[in-house]
This record gives sequence, C-alpha cells and structure tokens, in this order.
Amino acid sequence: MVTIREEKFADIAAREVLLDQAYGASRFAKASERLREGRVPADGLSLVAVERGRIVGTVRLWHVTAGPGCAALLLGPLAVDPAHRNRGIGTALMRCAIARARLAGHRAIVLVGDAAYYSRFGFTAAPTGELWMPGRFERDRLLALELHPDALAGTRGLIAATGALAPKPDLNLLIAASHGARRLQQARLKRAA
Ligand SMILES: CC(C)(COP(=O)(O)OP(=O)(O)OC[C@H]1O[C@@H](n2cnc3c(N)ncnc32)[C@H](O)[C@@H]1OP(=O)(O)O)[C@@H](O)C(=O)NCCC(=O)NCCS
Repeated sequence: MVTIREEKFADIAAREVLLDQAYGASRFAKASERLREGRVPADGLSLVAVERGRIVGTVRLWHVTAGPGCAALLLGPLAVDPAHRNRGIGTALMRCAIARARLAGHRAIVLVGDAAYYSRFGFTAAPTGELWMPGRFERDRLLALELHPDALAGTRGLIAATGALAPKPDLNLLIAASHGARRLQQARLKRAA
C-alpha cells in the first residue's frame, strides 16, 4: 500500500536519487530551481509517497510572490519512481499537496509543467499571462491554480522566492568531518597493512 506522508531528513538521499532518475542533471538548470535554491520549502508541504519503506514519489511546495505583494506557492518538483508510474501516485501526491495548501490558507499555487497532466487538478495558464519566471520558461507551461477565487487577478510581474533562507553548512564542521573521515581511512589502511 502506498502512503503519503511528510518528508523527513532521512528521506533526502532517496529523494535525490528519484529526482535524478526523473529529470537528470538538467533539473538544476530549470528556472523553477532559481526560486528554490537556498530556501526551505513551505511548512508541512514537502511530501513523499512511501511503499514498503521505499520512497516512490515526491513533491514540494515553496513560498513565492507572484508579482509584487501577491503571496503564492510554487509547486515542484513532482516525481514518481519510473517503476511505479501510472498507479495514481502522482495524483495522490498532487491531491494531498493541494488539500494541505488549501487548509493552511494559501491562496494560489503556480508551477511550470505539462498542462496535459496538471489540468486534471485545475491548473491552467489563464491566470499567469502577466507573470514571468526568473529565467527562460515556456509561457504555456506556466500554470496556476487559484485556491481563493481570483487570487491572482490583476497580478503582474516576476515570480520571486520569499521562503526562509536555508541554513548555510558550517565550514568548521565540514572541515572537522573531512579530517575525521581521513583519519578513519588512514587507521583502516594501517590495520590492513
Ligand atoms: C508526471 C508524473 C509525476 C506522473 O506520475 P504518475 O504517478 O505516473 O501519475 P498518475 O498515475 O497519477 O497519472 C497517470 C496519468 O497521467 C498521465 N501523464 C503522466 N505524465 C504526463 C504528462 N507529462 N503529460 C500528460 N499526461 C501525463 C498518464 O498518461 C496517465 O494518464 P491516464 O490517467 O489517462 O492513464 C510522473 O510520470 C513523473 O515523475 N514524470 C517525470 C517527471 C515529470 O515529467 N514531471 C511532471 C510533468 S511536467
């Protein structure tokens, strides 16, 4: 049985593998990535699909402003393990994410993706005609779902990141960890000699 739950720290490595499988290295070049890098996702809106302890799907939502003063969420990336596609896992993740966003009082969700897939959840390009991504994007793939009626009406401008900044890794800790790993490696080599 597939369960949808909030992402935990321990899920990160499996999630990265899944995203590499779904999108390849080009995922880091996307305009959406410019809105995610260095930020933390919206509270309670990083979800994973799990089956028999394995991560088989992922979705995250991020705080943005869709034009000046218009708070919204950016959805993505959404990905399902290739071996588990067409079983409704993407749909379950999307429905759960939208329901949670609505419950938390968010007003609108934007994303860049295939309208042929996202239209089933109510996303259209109609409310995004006057919005721009920070980088190259295809206008007919910039979609939105208004959770409040006309939440994006009249909005115009750049979509920009507004989420909290992710904590920077502590350089001293990284150096200590790398020294520790080197010492461990040297001790192992000594024992083996
Ligand atoms: C898109 C994705 C998340 C769908 O996950 P999934 O669990 O297979 O989706 P579901 O089982 O809920 O839905 C399957 C349906 O979506 C359709 N579908 C899947 N990807 C689609 C796409 N890019 N465009 C249109 N329809 C699509 C399938 O044909 C199927 O249609 P049906 O219900 O008429 O049979 C998954 O295919 C994936 O990770 N793809 C790689 C990354 C990607 O393309 N992400 C988002 C699209 S921009």
